Amino acid sequence: MSLNKDIKISTKLIHGGISGDELTGAVNVPIYQTSTYAQTTPGENKGYEYSRSGNPTRRALEELIAELEDGTQGFAFASGLAAISTVLSLFEQGDEIIISNDVYGGTFRLLDKVFNRFGFKYHQVNTSNEKEIEAAINPKVKAIYIETPTNPLLGITDLSLVAEIAKKHELLSIVDNTFYTPYIQKPLDFGIDIVLHSATKYLGGHSDLIAGLVVVNDEKIAERVGFLQNSIGAVLSPFDSFLLIRGIKTLGVRLDRHVSNAEKIVKALTESEDVKKVYYPGLSSHPGYEVNKKQARNGGAMISFELTDGHDTNELFRSLEIITLAESLGGVESLIEHPASMTHASIPKEIREAAGLGDGLLRLSVGIEDADDLIADLLNAIVKSRTAEEK
Ligand SMILES: Cc1ncc(COP(=O)(O)O)c(C=O)c1O
Repeated sequence: MSLNKDIKISTKLIHGGISGDELTGAVNVPIYQTSTYAQTTPGENKGYEYSRSGNPTRRALEELIAELEDGTQGFAFASGLAAISTVLSLFEQGDEIIISNDVYGGTFRLLDKVFNRFGFKYHQVNTSNEKEIEAAINPKVKAIYIETPTNPLLGITDLSLVAEIAKKHELLSIVDNTFYTPYIQKPLDFGIDIVLHSATKYLGGHSDLIAGLVVVNDEKIAERVGFLQNSIGAVLSPFDSFLLIRGIKTLGVRLDRHVSNAEKIVKALTESEDVKKVYYPGLSSHPGYEVNKKQARNGGAMISFELTDGHDTNELFRSLEIITLAESLGGVESLIEHPASMTHASIPKEIREAAGLGDGLLRLSVGIEDADDLIADLLNAIVKSRTAEEK
């Protein structure tokens, strides 16, 4: 069922795509745990022939994410990086790509250590700056790949501007929308060609699965991505497709709470004398605040911050009682991490530091616990992390 365009996203989250099971009336899409499908004569079947090429549970998820992102076709993968690898396989040897200068470390590693070996080069620029993007374009460049907000510095890039530059130079524009999800921002509505996700994060929402999604709204691109999805074969299993559909149903209520908690924590951090800098696109002092306001519902629930000198971050991690030190983000539980030694350790120190990602940066994925409990936990640990001379 494709819902009327006027239907609000909170309703689409629950009823979008293929809602329920026509055969039995089950209100949830069943887990079609099968690798193959009976054929009447060779090539004649009921729409499915082999689960790498298509599976009804995965199809329900793919139709759902396409509808949520205002796209025409969705594709589900075994991880966010499987989705990214498949999209990057659209390009040829000798092609080049422009990427945001603090993209997720795994995306950087994939380009730097894997695709580079096949003669596919990348240029890292500050994509918040139009002149830097234009300056990096040459005849070999075939795409612009951005995150907005970026991970972990939460830099904002103007989606309409990137789409416009891409169209002018006949490039593909690709957005990793993991940090916001379509509940907060829909890149295709701004003229972007391909949107992708680590659905492991907010879309799944419970830190219990690894998945990736891609959405497009152009038939030719859809055909090419579909071909690559089947050829590369890094598809999402029926069970994880089911779990992801289940998680997406509560995305709206979860994100409302994630964001209101984040806004309260940002206020507490900006008021703390122990905090040197807070990175959050919903803060009016953030350089991308106005652009973000134009293209996103709010500033999301990811916060990065730096403490003033005289703090031991390992002591801070040890002192936390509710917030967990762990990689990943977007789950119901609050997680904190140290990008330089954890999520972004695969980026060489000089490149990291040139992008402004220093050793003192901490990244917080705000969960849906009680905001006051989270603030108390964080401020208490920050005070305990003051080194002797500061205490
Ligand atoms: C912004 C972003 N994109 C992509 C990925 C990769 O996704 P996955 O871990 O599902 O492969 C991550 C993982 O942390 C991420 O944060």
